[in-house]
Amino acid sequence: MGKILILGGSGLVGKALINEFKHGYDVYGTYSTKFITNLPEDRQFQLEVQDISKMIEIISSIQPDSVISCIRGEFDQQLKFHKELAEVLRNMKSKLYFFSTTNVFDGDFSKPHTETDLTIAESDYGNFKIECENILKDILDERVKIIRIPAIWGVDSPRWNSMKESIKKNNVIDVYSNLECNNLSDVQLGIQLRYIMEHNLKGIFHFCSVDTMTQSQFYEQLFNSMGAEMNLLKNNTYQDSSNTYYFALKSTRDDIPDSHQTTNREIISYLIG
Ligand SMILES: NC(=O)c1ccc[n+]([C@@H]2O[C@H](COP(=O)([O-])OP(=O)(O)OC[C@H]3O[C@@H](n4cnc5c(N)ncnc54)[C@H](OP(=O)(O)O)[C@@H]3O)[C@@H](O)[C@H]2O)c1
Repeated sequence: MGKILILGGSGLVGKALINEFKHGYDVYGTYSTKFITNLPEDRQFQLEVQDISKMIEIISSIQPDSVISCIRGEFDQQLKFHKELAEVLRNMKSKLYFFSTTNVFDGDFSKPHTETDLTIAESDYGNFKIECENILKDILDERVKIIRIPAIWGVDSPRWNSMKESIKKNNVIDVYSNLECNNLSDVQLGIQLRYIMEHNLKGIFHFCSVDTMTQSQFYEQLFNSMGAEMNLLKNNTYQDSSNTYYFALKSTRDDIPDSHQTTNREIISYLIG
């Protein structure tokens, strides 16, 4: 049974991955402030991103076959953390799976971006993720797999809970009618990660719905399915322009089967239940 260590196991992505991998793998996780509810006590460790020596201690004692990083924290501290993590893993046989974001392309909204496109970011978040991706690739080469993801939705995720809360309180939600996006569910993310892990696929991955929708369309369909008041949705145009903008990923890889792909419609059905 392979050993997996999930850094940031108490978060949205981390918890979904624990649910996916706890059958068939020996799973360990770290948390910062929230105890991990879906892991036994002796499989979890409190870890702050600035505590490099504790991270090294945890890795040395577990000797994981795979480390998955879905941790957050202050950017400079995370850069240092991931550099040291890669240095530790360099001398071991473990593989690293690093979660990145659509924001590595937020300097170019002209098209959806594929795995082979050069990154181009404007935001601090996007630039930080690019730097982190590059550090990990420099040190670990093919042993790091970079997984870029769009907005993640889960039945207990912050964005889904906040939408339901706004509807309950009759608060208006602002959306863009000219911003094409894709999305992904937390469960589907786990299924896709298991596939690439078990088939030892390498490189950069864009895990995302195969289709895009404008942000307005996605929210309208969710509102429709919930029977919510449409007048709570306020349409805006991104950049105050009539052009179409893309904050979207696209995958041109042909090594993940169609049966493991998902659509925005399926994500909405999953949320509605
Ligand atoms: N969610 C999305 O829509 C989305 C989209 C694109 C990319 N991503 C990327 O995917 C990864 C996971 O995202 P997520 O949504 O699952 O994040 P999340 O729910 O906020 O979880 C973050 C995890 O990191 C831990 N953490 C936060 N600050 C920390 C610190 N200072 N030191 C140590 N641990 C710390 C949290 O611990 P506690 O909860 O115990 O405090 C939690 O386990 C991130 O790298 C994010 O950039 C997420």
